Amino acid sequence: MENTTLFNISIFSGYAYVGRCREFVWIPGDMIAHQRMTSTFVMRGLECSYEIDALMIRKDLYLRCDDGREYVVGNFQISDIDDSENISGIAESCDLLFEKFPQMKTITEGEQVLVSKQTQVMAFKVVSNVINSVRVGQSVDTKSAKEVVGHMVDEIIQCPDALMNLINIKSFDDYTFTHNINVATLSVLLGQELGVSPDELHELGLGALMHDVGKLKVSLSILNKDGKLTDAEFNEMKQHPTMGYEILCKSGDISEQARLVCLQHHEKFQGRGYPKGIKGEEISLFARICSVADVYDALTTDRPYRTAMAPYDAVKIIMSGVDSQFDPAVLTAFMRRFSIYPSGSLVMLSNGSVGLVLRPNPKTVLRPTIKLLRAADGSPVVDRVEIDLNDNKSLFITGAADASVLNIRESAPPKI
Ligand SMILES: [Fe+2]
Repeated sequence: MENTTLFNISIFSGYAYVGRCREFVWIPGDMIAHQRMTSTFVMRGLECSYEIDALMIRKDLYLRCDDGREYVVGNFQISDIDDSENISGIAESCDLLFEKFPQMKTITEGEQVLVSKQTQVMAFKVVSNVINSVRVGQSVDTKSAKEVVGHMVDEIIQCPDALMNLINIKSFDDYTFTHNINVATLSVLLGQELGVSPDELHELGLGALMHDVGKLKVSLSILNKDGKLTDAEFNEMKQHPTMGYEILCKSGDISEQARLVCLQHHEKFQGRGYPKGIKGEEISLFARICSVADVYDALTTDRPYRTAMAPYDAVKIIMSGVDSQFDPAVLTAFMRRFSIYPSGSLVMLSNGSVGLVLRPNPKTVLRPTIKLLRAADGSPVVDRVEIDLNDNKSLFITGAADASVLNIRESAPPKI
């Protein structure tokens, strides 16, 4: 493979614009005995908006060329920053975003597609345009954001029985980039389950897509901090709903309903949230929906300071907030609609056996169809034994199973 040189590119890391670089040179490793050796890169003429440390703690980078091509540099590590004109490092891959993107949502056989690849790509671009605009103090392009939310809502409305399989949209490392898209998707699904009209779903989706836009005004060192925030840092973080609301007010052509999602998504149902500490129905329904989606997605995604939780564990945490943080009606809708045990997850059964979830049951989310992997005595099950837990009421799931305990390598999941 030949070297590739990209000229005049903007660099993003998650929700943050990092800087520009005159040249990005990608040098694929040599092939030796059918194995590719480590690939390297050089950034020439890097102008960082923040300290270079902000770059060094991330795993994936997004590069956008002036001609519109976008690349994802996977698992990169900067190795030399002594020469600021030529910053070099190693990386696993450098792929065109569009080619890389299908991995964001690999659809298990038999599962309905909730939001198409094209719409996700579009949403991805809208989010990155928002970043650009806010960074240079321009208003947000509400037209393209509305367009993408329109697609999202239309697609979700078309499959009313689809359960959300969130495990499939977690391939990208960078949290804030995909977080906004996930939260918008989850919010629209929840809104639909709660009987929100299609027109209003557009407002809900738009507000949810923009809910964290105020974070663009929070210091990167705080956003990426590996550990507990100090009081002063947390106070700055707590400004993001208000700052986001102000950004959206300046952008015009965005409804108050959508703007309130941004302003109120950290309010708590029983009070004591921020910025205002309002409670109950003082908080808009859409903000109450978005706060459940926001927390769920945050818990089930890898962050710099902790690994992702299994959906089951995240739901347990969310349900524990039923008395204080969340609107019980929204949580009930959440339990009805979401696949706690998505296809591909490992589960422990009440008789001590272990199974792999094949298909969720839309009507009974706690009772999917599974394939038995380990018998109750721990011995591997060689033959294909499928159990529809809906038909086997004596058997139930007691929790998520840990792949390492089962000695099943996560990188090579068992054949379904
Ligand atoms: Fe937030």
